[in-house]
Amino acid sequence: MKSVEGVRVRRDTAAPERDAGHRRRLVLLDEDDRETALFFLRWLREPTRIGAIAPSSRQLGRAMARQVTALGTDPVIELGGGTGSVTRALLEAGIAPERLVVVERDERLFRILQQRFPSVRVVRGDARTLRRLLAPLGVRKAAAIVSCLPLISMPRRTCLRIVAESFALLGEGRPLVQFTYGLTSPLARERLGLKGRITARIWANLPPASVWRYERPRHRHELPQVA
Ligand SMILES: C[S@@+](CC[C@H](N)C(=O)[O-])C[C@H]1O[C@@H](n2cnc3c(N)ncnc32)[C@H](O)[C@@H]1O
Repeated sequence: MKSVEGVRVRRDTAAPERDAGHRRRLVLLDEDDRETALFFLRWLREPTRIGAIAPSSRQLGRAMARQVTALGTDPVIELGGGTGSVTRALLEAGIAPERLVVVERDERLFRILQQRFPSVRVVRGDARTLRRLLAPLGVRKAAAIVSCLPLISMPRRTCLRIVAESFALLGEGRPLVQFTYGLTSPLARERLGLKGRITARIWANLPPASVWRYERPRHRHELPQVA
């Protein structure tokens, strides 16, 4: 059984006995349940920043991965890796680990991703500064960006900045793939000058989710404007 060291919850008030209790309880769970429990504990600490109470289901991960498998050899960037459910789906779909770069802002989740996927490049940072985060890796363009970020609960300006950063890396026909629990497009397509469509609805996810695929129309070369 894998160690859960590095994924236990540390409280600001430093309560070692309580931490040990969390750890003992997590050790008794199987891998999937442990991932769900860890995710939920992170959500309890920072609900709006994490943006979901549970990791994405396998079905949702696969539906996102289907959008990026036939897209050349440039890097595939995942935004908001969490505990790695979509990362795993991308690898299982055949994306080579050396092509994948995962960005995660939360320090604890970043460390979990590093431990779970030692051959994938995992970067700790905010997707708002995506190009600056990727530059030291020599990554200046992407075959696709798979975003698990809670875009609809972010301030509008932050969301627009992330979209602009993403499309600065994506060439023609290269998609930004985003899931949402909402009923409508998480991005204002018309205002941003993007084409977008739903490619899958995953009713079995908790909560049910849709996968959206966005591209920049052929004639449009400038970035979406940050208001
Ligand atoms: C809804 S969770 C998705 C996690 C995982 N990919 C999944 O599908 O189960 C969103 C993740 O995005 C991360 N995140 C939120 N805002 C971010 C930002 N601005 N930059 C990078 N990561 C961010 C959160 O820490 C969280 O792990």
